[in-house]
Amino acid sequence: MSSAVDRLDSSQERDDYWNAYYADSGVGRPLPSQFAAFVAGELDGPARIIEFGSGSGRDTLFFAAHGHDVTGVDASKAAVEACTAQAAELGLDVEFLAATIDQDGLAAQLRMSPGSSVVYARFFVHAITDEEQTAFLDLAAALTSPGDRLAVEYRTVRDSSGAKVTGSHFRRFVDPTSFNAEAVLHGFDVTYAVEGFGFAKYRQDDAYVARALFARR
Ligand SMILES: C[S@@+](CC[C@H](N)C(=O)[O-])C[C@H]1O[C@@H](n2cnc3c(N)ncnc32)[C@H](O)[C@@H]1O
Repeated sequence: MSSAVDRLDSSQERDDYWNAYYADSGVGRPLPSQFAAFVAGELDGPARIIEFGSGSGRDTLFFAAHGHDVTGVDASKAAVEACTAQAAELGLDVEFLAATIDQDGLAAQLRMSPGSSVVYARFFVHAITDEEQTAFLDLAAALTSPGDRLAVEYRTVRDSSGAKVTGSHFRRFVDPTSFNAEAVLHGFDVTYAVEGFGFAKYRQDDAYVARALFARR
């Protein structure tokens, strides 16, 4: 469970925030996150990757450009439309889907590839509520088979007082011990877990994050 919340919004206010954010800031920064580069280096070969909270699409497009079969899922329709246009411009075969994590029937819309699938979420877990975190782990468990992987990076409780470059949107600072325990209950084993500064530096914002990889039992 989270121990600190930066700001609580209704889900409608949150959707409005992210739609305006992506409409204003544009999408598709060419550089991937440090975390995406790390995860790509951990994969043995082409994988099926479902990214939740794909946002600007920078990591989705990066994985696709490196030969992975990728779908980006985000609640923001503005982000999904812009990412779809950018993928077409770049000639990349990537699917973007506008959906909330707890949307009925979402699992059935997402094709997986047993044994070589990855559920990937960067800076998504801290952008959702406790209940949505459970929906996310339910969905990750439903989508994966033994040997598949879950990869997450998020702001932790130790980040609650740090500077933020990206504005005052909903943030729920997460306790890694609690998150890992809930993931274990959902059928995932922790295979790698670290936390600290320096993993997600962006200008003045050097978030204290947790980064973890899990294998589906
Ligand atoms: C902090 S951004 C992270 C974007 C990207 N992964 C990155 O690392 O740059 C969080 C994203 O989660 C999306 N989001 C928030 N709540 C959501 C929900 N309940 N279901 C699906 N997407 C959601 C937002 O629209 C936003 O794009």
